[in-house]
Amino acid sequence: MEGITVRFGGVVANNDVSFHCREGSITALLGPNGAGKTTMFNVISGQQRIASGSVRFAGTDITSAPSHVRARLGMGRTFQNLSVVGELTVLENVRVGASRFASYGVGSAILGLPHVARSDRRTTNVARQAIEAVGLSELSDTPASSLPYGDLRRLELARALCLSPRLLLLDEPAAGLDNTESRDLVRAIRGIRDHWGVTVLLVEHDLELVRSVSEYAYVLDFGTLLAGGATRDVLNDPAVVAAYVGHADTNTPAGV
Ligand SMILES: Nc1ncnc2c1ncn2[C@@H]1O[C@H](COP(=O)(O)OP(=O)(O)O)[C@@H](O)[C@H]1O
Ligand SMILES: [Mg+2]
Repeated sequence: MEGITVRFGGVVANNDVSFHCREGSITALLGPNGAGKTTMFNVISGQQRIASGSVRFAGTDITSAPSHVRARLGMGRTFQNLSVVGELTVLENVRVGASRFASYGVGSAILGLPHVARSDRRTTNVARQAIEAVGLSELSDTPASSLPYGDLRRLELARALCLSPRLLLLDEPAAGLDNTESRDLVRAIRGIRDHWGVTVLLVEHDLELVRSVSEYAYVLDFGTLLAGGATRDVLNDPAVVAAYVGHADTNTPAGV
């Protein structure tokens, strides 16, 4: 991201912001409410028009690429509203995601041709690996409707993973989760990076989650980049601490 500026009327939601995600890293984008995190996230995935700046992904200038092109290049994301089918099992839900890449048409599926069975097996394999990566293997055959919220978030992660993203964008993945569920989620995110080599960018304002999962962090405040670098250094930066203390509605870094 190079010099990104986004304006909504008089509000400058992102003000000349530059930062990058190192390949294979877990990076957090944080900041108080209204800082411009979600706006930046939408800029990255191609859903937000920018006033100025440029976006590069894996060596390609994608500033004017629409979001479906970015998705094809390997940008994956989860969505805030869980689009899970309650009557289907965990495996079936994830297979729905994986089968988008199945290499046969509806015609040959109806005729039951052999390569359909092969492709189905491959889809199931990919789905099972993704389910294992997020720690839901034991619940593979459980209907999604009987999963608690935290497991559903991880089911969503597994589904995003099936599309083989190079970069996974997660907007406040821990929102609404309790401590145990957050810990499981952090483990899942790390597993995805460690075993699948996926680069992760989290938009998050839970500083404890950021501290435990991300190697790098960038902080936005009123649309401007306040600090960036190794997570520990960033969270100890006096300017960052002051920004969080100045917003009573968000949590303060621990140990301050
Ligand atoms: N679609 C929009 N129209 C007008 N203003 C917006 C819009 N989206 C965001 N904003 C404003 O831009 C600023 C940044 O918002 P946002 O990116 O959602 O912050 P964050 O995700 O960090 O809480 C806020 O002042 C917000 O009110
Ligand atoms: Mg937001």
